[in-house]
Amino acid sequence: RRAVAVRASSEPINPSIKKDVDKVVDTVSIKDLDKPKVAYCRCWRSDTFPLCNGAHVKHNAATGDNVGPLLVAKE
Ligand code: FES
Repeated sequence: RRAVAVRASSEPINPSIKKDVDKVVDTVSIKDLDKPKVAYCRCWRSDTFPLCNGAHVKHNAATGDNVGPLLVAKE
């Protein structure tokens, strides 16, 4: 069984996105994807959330984290 890591920080993962709702949930229909590949943000720093805008690069450099987007590709 894998050990579960406990975050040392009490800072929220989401610093600023849709803070007026109890839970951020986004739904995307695969058939509505208009590009061969779309990148979805997993770092919670994108100004275009839920889409990745590259903000994870700055976040990773500042924190030593290694997060990146979820890529959804049409076959
Ligand atoms: Fe968040 Fe790229 S901006 S994963």
